[in-house]
Amino acid sequence: MKIIMLGAPGAGKGTQAKMIAEKYSVPHISTGDIFRANIKSGTALGMEAKQYMDQGMLVPDELTVRILLDRVAQEDCKAGYVLDGFPRTIPQAEVLEKELHKLGEKIDWAIDVDVPDENIIRRMSGRRACLSCGATYHMEYIPPKKEGVCDTCGSDLVLRDDDKAETVKKRLDVYHEQTQPLIDFYTDRNILRTVDGTLSMEDVFAAIVAILD
Ligand code: AP5
Ligand code: MG
Ligand code: ZN
Repeated sequence: MKIIMLGAPGAGKGTQAKMIAEKYSVPHISTGDIFRANIKSGTALGMEAKQYMDQGMLVPDELTVRILLDRVAQEDCKAGYVLDGFPRTIPQAEVLEKELHKLGEKIDWAIDVDVPDENIIRRMSGRRACLSCGATYHMEYIPPKKEGVCDTCGSDLVLRDDDKAETVKKRLDVYHEQTQPLIDFYTDRNILRTVDGTLSMEDVFAAIVAILD
């Protein structure tokens, strides 16, 4: 099962992708998480990606595509995966389609988690992320058991550098300009399904499971 999660920044792609990965036993692959892990450990890739991410811009396609293709070539991806935050531009989607085609494979579903811009800013300011294991919380909607501490691994939770209000606005602009065209791209291929991302986390997941099952 190969799934793509589409949606604006903060729509809940990561939250749902983790739940899908667990239920269907496939890896959750987030290019954003890969970049953040590299920033945290100070790699050259991390340093390069950070320059773009902190400004709310996309990391160049060439770099992002290389990382993603390396990741999906790994052994644990044989039975499928859920992609979260990739593709994000038409060129990325085209490369992915072409590379999968060479292997006789294809994406099964592209799920668009639809949330209006007004709701996004509120979600981002309350988000707290664990940079060690990638878990995500919301101070109001999905709080950790102990304030400021990850339930899963016990690390400190942080506000992401790109979750400041001005940067979120920039990310939304970039989304509308460069990523939203993917909705038509996957509609044309008959694999786009839209879910209402303003519902509770459990209700959004139920809608996704109804599509996948
Ligand atoms: P990335 O990490 O992918 O960020 P993003 O797309 O902006 O998405 P987010 O992670 O911010 O949101 P999400 O949809 O995962 O929402 P979440 O589940 O956390 O990318 C970061 C940067 O990396 C990019 O800006 C770019 O620079 C670079 N990058 C990454 N991939 C790239 C690519 N392919 N090409 C180029 N550059 C790339 O939920 C948000 C909040 O809401 C959380 O607090 C959560 O707890 C809460 N929440 C979730 N669901 C609900 C619900 N149903 N009700 C209430 N609250 C909810
Ligand atoms: Mg995410
Ligand atoms: Zn953690």
